[in-house]
Amino acid sequence: MPAKLCVNIDHVATVRNARGEGEPDPIHAAVLCEMAGAVGITVHLREDRRHIVDRDLPLLKEVVKGLLNLEMACTNEMVGIAMKLHPDQVTLVPEKRAEVTTEGGLDVRRNFKAVRAATKKLLGAGIAVSHFIDPDAKQVDASAESGASHVEFHTGAYAQLFDRKRDAAMKERERLRAACEQAHALGMIVNAGHGLNYRNVEPIASLPHMNELNIGHAIVGRAIFVGLDRAVGDMIRLLRRARTA
Ligand code: PXP
Repeated sequence: MPAKLCVNIDHVATVRNARGEGEPDPIHAAVLCEMAGAVGITVHLREDRRHIVDRDLPLLKEVVKGLLNLEMACTNEMVGIAMKLHPDQVTLVPEKRAEVTTEGGLDVRRNFKAVRAATKKLLGAGIAVSHFIDPDAKQVDASAESGASHVEFHTGAYAQLFDRKRDAAMKERERLRAACEQAHALGMIVNAGHGLNYRNVEPIASLPHMNELNIGHAIVGRAIFVGLDRAVGDMIRLLRRARTA
């Protein structure tokens, strides 16, 4: 089975917000991505609402037919929003106000009590809960202990190395491979994402137990030139090829 594609449409909202008007509408993007074969849609509601805004959430909940994955910080405000919205899945991510994008994985060990409480509350409401973590054995253990149903491994370090230092990127892939095996053995479903693009995705899509990849910037960037339908289709073809090669 090829890894499934969830498209992160945050950057459609970034372009919309640049003009403070209603277009391009991420809701339209969600529909087109699903029609092009994506199994789901991922959005990150940031504390500063720099791209996705509260208005988008109930509309996405209504139009998305596959998986709706809400990325959010582990705060009372966000847990309250998620309990009301009831997406299929919540991915807990770290969040720093000044960062350009999510820079590192969630430190589940350090924030164990808060992460476990949020995880249990959301799971109790029937929402799958994923933790966006680095491929680190201690973090994987902590996620499992806190009850997470899924983990999403941060592929940012691998992606940064891929074009510059291929050997180092392959070492990072080895770290990811070991973490995938560990998370699977602990009963969690394994996803990954961040920084993946059309050049570097296949070695990640072929990792053992890889269920789903969350990819945003590369797809939205390509869509500017070729349209969302083709940008999503091109990525899905790579995910299939990664499993058959
Ligand atoms: N997964 C998580 C948890 C993220 O925070 C992001 C970025 O918002 C992505 C995946 C997608 O990353 P990219 O836009 O680099 O594909």
